[in-house]
Amino acid sequence: MRTQVGIVGAGPAGLMLSHLLHLHGIESVVLECRSREYVEHRVRAGVLEQGSVDLLRRAGVGERLQREGMRHEGIELRFDGESHRVPMTELTGRAITVYGQQEVVKDLIAARLAAGGSILFEAEAVRLAGLDSDSPVIHFRRDGRDEQLECDFVAGCDGFHGVSRGAVPDGVLRTYERTYPFAWLGVLAAAPPAVDELVYANHERGFALYSLRSPEISRLYLQVAPDEDIAAWPDERIWAELRTRLETVAGWSLNEGPILEKSITPMRSFVVEPMQWERLFLAGDAVHIVPPTGAKGMNLALADVALLGDAFAAWYAQHRTDLLEDYSAAALRRVWRAQHFSWWMTSMLHRLEKDDPYETKLQAATLRYVVASPAYATSLAENYVGLPEV
Ligand code: FAD
Ligand code: DHB
Repeated sequence: MRTQVGIVGAGPAGLMLSHLLHLHGIESVVLECRSREYVEHRVRAGVLEQGSVDLLRRAGVGERLQREGMRHEGIELRFDGESHRVPMTELTGRAITVYGQQEVVKDLIAARLAAGGSILFEAEAVRLAGLDSDSPVIHFRRDGRDEQLECDFVAGCDGFHGVSRGAVPDGVLRTYERTYPFAWLGVLAAAPPAVDELVYANHERGFALYSLRSPEISRLYLQVAPDEDIAAWPDERIWAELRTRLETVAGWSLNEGPILEKSITPMRSFVVEPMQWERLFLAGDAVHIVPPTGAKGMNLALADVALLGDAFAAWYAQHRTDLLEDYSAAALRRVWRAQHFSWWMTSMLHRLEKDDPYETKLQAATLRYVVASPAYATSLAENYVGLPEV
């Protein structure tokens, strides 16, 4: 099998890249180790920056997003028994849209298949070869058989646990990382959200986040220990903890309902540089991870492939190499801005160490400053809605 760009991974990065390449008349094949059913129902992110929404619309895949996505013009910070609104749109002129990542994935898969695009599900890339030649090969396994995909370039969009990053020879990549002493327990609940905007709560028992997916479905998160066992969290315990951490404002209560899905996600910050080696281009979670507090991961994945799509287009149309050569440096500018913002939001809102009163006082001072100073609030807001240029 042969194509122009071989893409490993059908997450937001791989699918969007395949779609953008198609718009430029460039062929690609996407290899995905999971089933279509699995990737379309994997519950993850929910916040799209203004720039991501604009990108999806410009690319012709924003029709359902436009209809069903919920535009939010502010977020709430809750601490010390008080709630404070950060009016993002008033401060920046831009907004975020709440729309589940799996809906973005469904829309992109539908668009690719409608255009005759090739996505091979349950096809696991096992090895990349010839990356320093003109025709690299992706070795993959499908239906118990070994197959090969030859291409001009490989796009490694296979997430943190994928194979692509590992195909770069030792000594080329440099890793920057930080792990946090906590994880997030995320739940999807059949309960009408009791909020119009997202609530980020700093509480002495740990962080909590109230988000939503629709007028009937709430999405909630709790800070838990990094090695927490999901079996230790029956539904009633989850609701009790959410009540404790979120019902801190007089007269406000959350709505409860059946929990449809729950999972625990470890928290890390991680960047690998550069994001390219020879004919391998890495994008999304395959090269950078942020803790989810800043809601940046999916947005970064989309921003990476927007650059990559233009770079491949310039190469195929005019044999220009400059954009491909500049890809890593250009993408990393946005990546590091998001790294800092995500680390900052995480540090401000979580219980970092048990019994560190100095840390707690610093968090309180930061939160007070954010809600008192339009300058500081604008800094939070412009990062949260997404900086157009960084
Ligand atoms: P993935 O979505 O991980 O896609 C990679 C794909 O590659 C997967 O489908 C995988 O099955 C496939 N794959 C892996 N290995 C192979 C292989 N060897 N062969 C073939 N296929 C392979 N981000 C936000 O922007 N906003 C948020 O609000 C937000 N909240 C989050 C909340 C949670 C609980 C979590 C877990 C994440 C959140 N994120 C958020 C992060 C976001 O989900 C990720 O950053 C995003 O999925 C990255 O997209 P990707 O395409 O790079 O990688
Ligand atoms: C959601 C996830 C996040 O990581 C975040 O910061 C805000 C919202 C969500 O899933 O809705």
